Amino acid sequence: MRAVRYTRTGGPEVLEIAEVPAPQPGAGEVAIDVSHAGVHFADVMFRRGQFPLALPAVPGLEVAGTVAELGEGVTGLRIGQQVAALPFGFGGNAERVVAGAVTTVPLEGELAGLSPLLAAGAVCNAATAVGTLRGAARIATGDRVLVLGASGGLGLLLGRLARAYGAALVVGAASTAERAARAVEGGYDLAVTYGELADRTSELTDGHGFDVVVDSVGGEPREQVRGLLAVLGRHVVIGNAADRDLDLGANQVWYDSFTLAGYNLGGVLARRPDLLRAHLEEGLRLVADGTLSLDVEEIGWDGVAEAHRQLEGRTASGKYVLRVR
Ligand SMILES: NC(=O)c1ccc[n+]([C@@H]2O[C@H](COP(=O)([O-])OP(=O)(O)OC[C@H]3O[C@@H](n4cnc5c(N)ncnc54)[C@H](OP(=O)(O)O)[C@@H]3O)[C@@H](O)[C@H]2O)c1
Repeated sequence: MRAVRYTRTGGPEVLEIAEVPAPQPGAGEVAIDVSHAGVHFADVMFRRGQFPLALPAVPGLEVAGTVAELGEGVTGLRIGQQVAALPFGFGGNAERVVAGAVTTVPLEGELAGLSPLLAAGAVCNAATAVGTLRGAARIATGDRVLVLGASGGLGLLLGRLARAYGAALVVGAASTAERAARAVEGGYDLAVTYGELADRTSELTDGHGFDVVVDSVGGEPREQVRGLLAVLGRHVVIGNAADRDLDLGANQVWYDSFTLAGYNLGGVLARRPDLLRAHLEEGLRLVADGTLSLDVEEIGWDGVAEAHRQLEGRTASGKYVLRVR
């Protein structure tokens, strides 16, 4: 079968289109004939060697397609069924992928109208937006919310979902004025650059500070977050695009009276697959019923390396989805 593959880590140039053996489902897994597959920032992080992985590797952890084969013990799914899935072992940028049944959701009932293009684009980021805001941030009506990396695929969803969940103020932050403007076009009340945050937070929040700051960015913006939070505010860490973390002791949380929280799809899946499934289903439902709109760009096989370049180069805005067949 055809797949995007890399045999060594490095820049987007390591990605190639190759013929590889089709994977077989093990117990509790399903094989899916992929029609659409998301290209995700996690693919970039693994491809460039930020985390260990076995090589050769096929990227892709969000797909939509048709169930082709059921592994031992799988119930509640049938061959030929349209599904969206989160194959947590990656491999989704391919004609066939294996995913756990627990992260494979039939596109039926409330999800029947969801196109495979949107479903594939929503799998990771819609589930993460739900888990982050509901689960980790414990968002409450009237909260003042700040999202770092607001103009990215996930950032745009977080802004829209924070408002849907009753936030009183939804502010985005981005690296440049152009990206901040994109966040406002995408639904934020207002947006600023990271460099403006320290000076403008008091004015923007009536001296209160932000109740919730969602941080997928790391680096210098992360260093500022404590100074932007309201008393008892929540700093929710969900990524590290800049590949630079804080050196923070637990006592600092005590002294400064704030909450440090986190959400990681893989971490939740490992310990509470039922909870991850609930976040995935709610995320897909919110996209299907129009509460969450998704900015999707469909690309072909020859567009995957360029999509990685855009994601890594901070020029992407929205979500790239590979049309596999
Ligand atoms: N916790 C989870 O389970 C989970 C799930 C999904 C995604 N994530 C994380 O969420 C983040 C956003 O994902 P996405 O799909 O929305 O990707 P995306 O569309 O490429 O967005 C990445 C965002 O990060 C910002 N950024 C800051 N520093 C960056 C750097 N050094 N390189 C590239 N971008 C940088 C960019 O905006 P500026 O240039 O304006 O800063 C951009 O808005 C990623 O870090 C991803 O790993 C986490």
